[in-house]
Amino acid sequence: MKYEHHLFVCTNQKSEVGRDVVKALKKEIKKQGLSKKLNRALPTGCLDECKHCKKGCGAALIVYPEGAIYGDVQPDDAPAIVREHLLHGRVVSKLLLD
Ligand code: FES
Repeated sequence: MKYEHHLFVCTNQKSEVGRDVVKALKKEIKKQGLSKKLNRALPTGCLDECKHCKKGCGAALIVYPEGAIYGDVQPDDAPAIVREHLLHGRVVSKLLLD
């Protein structure tokens, strides 16, 4: 099966936020019926965006094939990322890093 997108979430920070973001993304992908089009959100190591990925800030994540990097992502941001980016192809500007 060929997926349209792959998501990798940094879980390298000391808090649980990255793992919570992964769980929230998986739940939202399933809820929006995209499981067959998208690879699930996968935990990964440091994405070199550590100032946007620490306790109190949230997690960094990257979406391929675009290579869009989001920072300060909280579990509550999962619906917007899945709906806007993955479903409609629009980046979520407020979370997008340069
Ligand atoms: S610790 Fe998450 S990007 Fe570096």
